[in-house]
Amino acid sequence: MFYAVKQAGKLMWQELGLSPADMRGIASAFCAEMKQGLAGGPSSLPMLPAYLGKPGGREEGTYAALDFGGTNVRVLLVRLAEGNYEILRKTTFPLKDAAAGYDLTRAAVDGGELFSFISRKIGELVGTSQRYRLGFTFSFTCEHQGLDKAVLLNWSKEIETSGVEGRDVGMLLREALRREKIDNVSLAAIVNDTTATLLTGAFAERACDMAGILGTGYNVCYTEPNNPWTKEEMIVNIEAGAFAQAPRGRYDLLLDKQSERPGEHLLEKMVSGRYLGELVRLILLDLHQRDLLFRCENLSRFIDKGALPTEELGLVLAHAERNGFLNNVKLGDKWGCLQITEADYAVLRQVCRDVRDRSARLAAAAFAGVLLRIDPQLDRRHLIAVDGSLYEKLPGYAVALKKALGELLGENKEKVSLRLTKDGSGIGAAIAAATSQTLF
Ligand code: BGC
Repeated sequence: MFYAVKQAGKLMWQELGLSPADMRGIASAFCAEMKQGLAGGPSSLPMLPAYLGKPGGREEGTYAALDFGGTNVRVLLVRLAEGNYEILRKTTFPLKDAAAGYDLTRAAVDGGELFSFISRKIGELVGTSQRYRLGFTFSFTCEHQGLDKAVLLNWSKEIETSGVEGRDVGMLLREALRREKIDNVSLAAIVNDTTATLLTGAFAERACDMAGILGTGYNVCYTEPNNPWTKEEMIVNIEAGAFAQAPRGRYDLLLDKQSERPGEHLLEKMVSGRYLGELVRLILLDLHQRDLLFRCENLSRFIDKGALPTEELGLVLAHAERNGFLNNVKLGDKWGCLQITEADYAVLRQVCRDVRDRSARLAAAAFAGVLLRIDPQLDRRHLIAVDGSLYEKLPGYAVALKKALGELLGENKEKVSLRLTKDGSGIGAAIAAATSQTLF
């Protein structure tokens, strides 16, 4: 038993381990790439301007918000008043639903069809009796050419709908609203979900100057005091998931090779919820082949790409936290593995923890990289607004992130806090729509 556990542990450290010195190296490389990207030099970090600064906190009114962050889309009506927000109505709908027989994320589907579908949902939620300005959170890599004009550079999160890349998603939405005869809604602002989360965090507390999404996708934004576009304070969407300097191991290379877009969004493939389950699956198959795991089992359950969703990693981790035996949760039955031994369980637990912790340590290193850029001596207090299912729901993730950030910041660690900012993408879209009124 102990041989397998020890060998697997060794291999995991080689493949996934990050010491504090490794994290510091990643943080300075991240900061260097930020500077290069801002200066328009060669960099894996796109550094995209948001054309918005922090909100004043006094924005008021009722706004429609569209939150398109992945395969689940939300439409909300949000009221802002006296520094508070309230969600008056909301609806969530999937872009693919096998039972209902549609999938709007395939390359065979055209962007017009996708945005018409979304527009009809907007119409259903807002009704016809009032006019609304709409804030649109679109959580993909876009080049903003103004606050309501954002050209999709490339899809991520395995979405492939055609006729959207290279086009202004604001225009696509406006055209669709017109086609669907929804004329009481006007698009006011388009923001990335990190920007929306920062707006929400800063609406409540001025010290908030960074935001991170740790969910299906991964990204970071911050307020750049001296941006090259307007020379004023502006939120910059780093597209941190595109960072290409983090050390990758053999499982990362394998995962990237079989992904929809090899060579792109490399850090996202090591950090985000879209990929962590897949990483664990590849590791389990390899450990099985090396005779270190599930020796009595045939692993047919894990053969196919995507066969292990990140939520199942959450099940193992939830149990690991309570130190239970895997069969107690019937995960063995679920996976068709009937003879899981205690050694198997120990290895499995270790793999899930190591994959989770590496993700958190990489995310901490990227945050530290941003701090190196905006306040290298840590003279001020910083609040990082964080949203996303990994951070909110994966057992042990938030703790691992805080611990890693603490290791990086040392005695200054009290100056930087992380705050879960739920619904930041939706609320932030409304704040962006409100802020935009004061801009023109
Ligand atoms: C997208 C980002 C987004 C992040 C989090 C990434 O795949 O490229 O724009 O902020 O996911 O949703």
